[in-house]
Amino acid sequence: MRSFALFAVLSAFLSLPDVFAVKSHDFKTCSQSGFCRRGRALSARAQEAQSSWKSPYSIDPSSIIFSPDEAVVSASVKSSLYPEIKFGLELRIHEDGVVRVLMDEIDGLRQRYDEAAYWALVAEPQVSKTVSWTTGKKDLRAVYGDKKEFEVVVAYEPLRVTLLRNGKEQIVLNGRGLLHMEHFRTQTAKETTEEVASDESGEGQEVLQVENVRAWFEGENEDDYWSETFSKWTDSKPKGPESLSLDITFPNHGNVYGIPQHATNLSLPSTAGESPSYSDPFRLYNADVFEYLASSTMSLYGSIPVMHAHSADSTVGVFHAVGSETWIDISYPTAKSTQTHWISESGIMDVFLLPGPTPDDIFAQYARLTGTTALPAHWSLGYHQCRWNYVSSDDVRTVQRRFDEEDMPVDVFWLDIEYAKDHKYFIWDQKTFPDPVEMTNDVAANGRKMVVIVDPHLKRTSDYPIYQEASDMGILVKPTSGEGEYEGWCWSGSSSWIDHFNPASWDWWISKFKTTKLDKGFSWIESTEDVHIWNDMNEPSIFNGPEITMPKDSVHYGGWEHRDVHNINGMLFHNSTAAAVRARGDIPKRPFVLTRSFYAGSQRISAMWTGDNLGTWEHMAAGIKMVLANNIAGMAFAGSDVGGFFGNPEPEMLVRWYQVGIFSPFFRAHAHIDTKRREPFLLDEPYKSIIRDILRLRYAMLPIWYTAFRENSVTGLPIVRPHYVVFPKDPAGFAIDDQFFIGSSGILVKPVTEKEKTEATVYLPEDQVYYDYFTQYAYRGANKGKHITVPAELHQVPVFIRGGSILPTRERPRRSSPLMKLDPFTLRVALSKAGTARGELYLDDGVTYSHEQGELVWREFVAEQPQRKTTRISSKDLASAKPERAVDGVALAKYDPKNAFAKEIAEVRVEKIVVLGLSAKPSSVKVEGGKGMELKWEYVPGVAASEKKDGSASVLTIRDPKVLITEDWAIVIS
Ligand SMILES: *[C@@H]1O[C@H](CO)[C@@H](O)[C@H](O)[C@H]1NC(C)=O
Ligand SMILES: *[C@@H]1O[C@H](CO)[C@@H](O)[C@H](O)[C@H]1NC(C)=O
Repeated sequence: MRSFALFAVLSAFLSLPDVFAVKSHDFKTCSQSGFCRRGRALSARAQEAQSSWKSPYSIDPSSIIFSPDEAVVSASVKSSLYPEIKFGLELRIHEDGVVRVLMDEIDGLRQRYDEAAYWALVAEPQVSKTVSWTTGKKDLRAVYGDKKEFEVVVAYEPLRVTLLRNGKEQIVLNGRGLLHMEHFRTQTAKETTEEVASDESGEGQEVLQVENVRAWFEGENEDDYWSETFSKWTDSKPKGPESLSLDITFPNHGNVYGIPQHATNLSLPSTAGESPSYSDPFRLYNADVFEYLASSTMSLYGSIPVMHAHSADSTVGVFHAVGSETWIDISYPTAKSTQTHWISESGIMDVFLLPGPTPDDIFAQYARLTGTTALPAHWSLGYHQCRWNYVSSDDVRTVQRRFDEEDMPVDVFWLDIEYAKDHKYFIWDQKTFPDPVEMTNDVAANGRKMVVIVDPHLKRTSDYPIYQEASDMGILVKPTSGEGEYEGWCWSGSSSWIDHFNPASWDWWISKFKTTKLDKGFSWIESTEDVHIWNDMNEPSIFNGPEITMPKDSVHYGGWEHRDVHNINGMLFHNSTAAAVRARGDIPKRPFVLTRSFYAGSQRISAMWTGDNLGTWEHMAAGIKMVLANNIAGMAFAGSDVGGFFGNPEPEMLVRWYQVGIFSPFFRAHAHIDTKRREPFLLDEPYKSIIRDILRLRYAMLPIWYTAFRENSVTGLPIVRPHYVVFPKDPAGFAIDDQFFIGSSGILVKPVTEKEKTEATVYLPEDQVYYDYFTQYAYRGANKGKHITVPAELHQVPVFIRGGSILPTRERPRRSSPLMKLDPFTLRVALSKAGTARGELYLDDGVTYSHEQGELVWREFVAEQPQRKTTRISSKDLASAKPERAVDGVALAKYDPKNAFAKEIAEVRVEKIVVLGLSAKPSSVKVEGGKGMELKWEYVPGVAASEKKDGSASVLTIRDPKVLITEDWAIVIS
């Protein structure tokens, strides 16, 4: 029964260790996908016709209706090709200036899927009450914004929607006339239409004309309208053609980013126009791509249809809430403009135009739509040790012991699919895991957690209670017929899948994770609240399905086809799981769920990783770009597997990969079942000690990461930030995706992703001092940007502190992060060329939701020069100053600095302050308002921040300054 699974394992094995090849023939190219082919052919015809091309879609001005408050405007749209078909257009301008453009077929034979936004959006957006529309002869317009800088123009004929700022075109919909919403028809529709047409006109001639025009626009033949065959699979397409083609142009923006997930450059390469970089469009169709390529437009496991368009002048964005397979062509007709063409298989048009005009505005606008990353459990920012598979509970114990013996910090041990008897998730294999609760408790005794895999395929056997209960409840996905249970093959052999679109599945799924006995049905009494969950294979991956996934004509709740919801499917699974993990105990605790498949909105719920990468240098580099792309698309809690899933990386590669991993929001090492064991304690020296230091660096920096997660959870600003986000006006940085900043901390990282490197080149974008994190060497940037060459031997990862930053770290090595709770802090004050600096620190219990009640500490550190030769470093309570900004989603009216959490850490000190770049040796260092006592300090002279030269920075080290982290204080250096 497991032959298929075995085959998959075997073929993976055969291709190891060095020869990797994606099975491209398992996945469609655009030319093998009917609707994509039709969309591209439409674009080719438009190209050929040039200026004579005209969109057949137009607005009937007499149909324009405003809602009573004028906030929503709607109109009828007609296509000259099908005069009898009705379309409706609706525009809404949100309070924050986002413009939502919806279009649907009205009174059609069937309904287009219109629930993608329902799943993606955090709430129904507030529509502006102050916008007023004016209708003219040729168009409909609204001017809005604080300075009336924005304008939306909706042209009637042909239909065209333009967003302008200060009179300059930002985003144009249907500017190239590629809009096409294929209407529902019956298979004999051709004749019917002719009859209608001849009834109306009474003339055969006109019918012919209409047919010719249709052919001119839609092509001569009905290309795969009614069924489609790929390899051995046939998609029955019971609804016929219903695709949506839409061109979106950014006339004044020369770079576009986003639409994860693809293994490609952050600044998206072209797929169309003159000499494109790739031949196929970027594809969004969640898929389990075995041994994926390191540079490709192929679909991967998750899809977020959001794109940023950027120029030195402005950043704008579009989010298309569509859940079906979507292909996106990108071309750059000039260096300063971008054309895109979005082709989706089904669903309504539901496009949000994000007006920016800065990257930070785009993040805020997108976050108001789809939400931000929920503040994760603090421990989940630690190091995760995974492998397919730790084979027994004693194996887990041994691995834990070895980490402790080697003084290597780790927070989480993971179990892949082999813990589960016959891959029946929740059911421990008694032979190898006879004592799962004791095993978890042994791990938890050191403050650690377990993460255990629960995949969506349910083995179809009556002795598997999860399957049997779901089957009895009728909540499994149905086959094409709409009756019975869809059956496919996965790790567990013959399997079925829960339909999480069915609300009846939600409470039931939550009950399966309860750690106590239920009156009725299975619950996971053989687990504890220290077990968190990994949702893999949720694209869903189906070994014998078309493109390794579910047939598109399978049926979900409400009668929707899998086609309509495919890209959303994985999100609903991890959403249900997270709700279940959260609901286990008496006190809700922050769930950790890792998902492979994701959609817009997934960031609210789970962390993601970039799936089954390869142990190659190319994949190491690609992982950085992918994590950045996910971050700008809202999916911030992201990482790629350290070491690469497939293959046996040599020690040098493994070291470099850990250096990449510690600078990812999510930090996990993982390995395929056929790889050699590669836990860091197994390495020889010097590799072992280098990795120990790298792990410790991650743990030292946890306060920086957690502070960045807080900011992301409130503002949507990414946790790892590419250059264009931090320096939006510096064109030299627009395509940079191999170095990046961490939150607002001022840390700049450039991991080394090539073999045998001893140096790295780093781009400094401004005239500012950047300090080497380790050596405190000061590098001075330049106004128009500057490249520096820095040492990067194997033990060195290029990390810099931007002048003007204050970094809080915790430098005492511990076995796991919860053991650091009462550890003292070190502050690195990296003075700017003006002699100032600023930083933040956010802390809470890291586990519960008590922060939503104000149990938190949020501090601001400032260094300033009140007088020449005097530097004052102070700490103040930011939570009291901005209670409404402290926590996502809850506006604390007031903040009590003496809250229960603050009291718990009341004794936590600052044990060391390091000031970089002072211009001279101080004569005194004292706590302000203290008893005039001189603190213990030492000064090593060197380059001052104000000096325009490179060299070892001056370093003032203040030891035990006798100040507490929860208190206001100031230290005066004079
Ligand atoms: C990605 O960027 C690199 C560096 O700019 C460039 O050399 C490469 O050609 C780009 N890749 C594609 C597919 O355009
Ligand atoms: C997540 O699950 C909750 C019920 O637990 C449901 O209300 C919500 O709509 C779901 N959201 C998504 C995105 O699946």
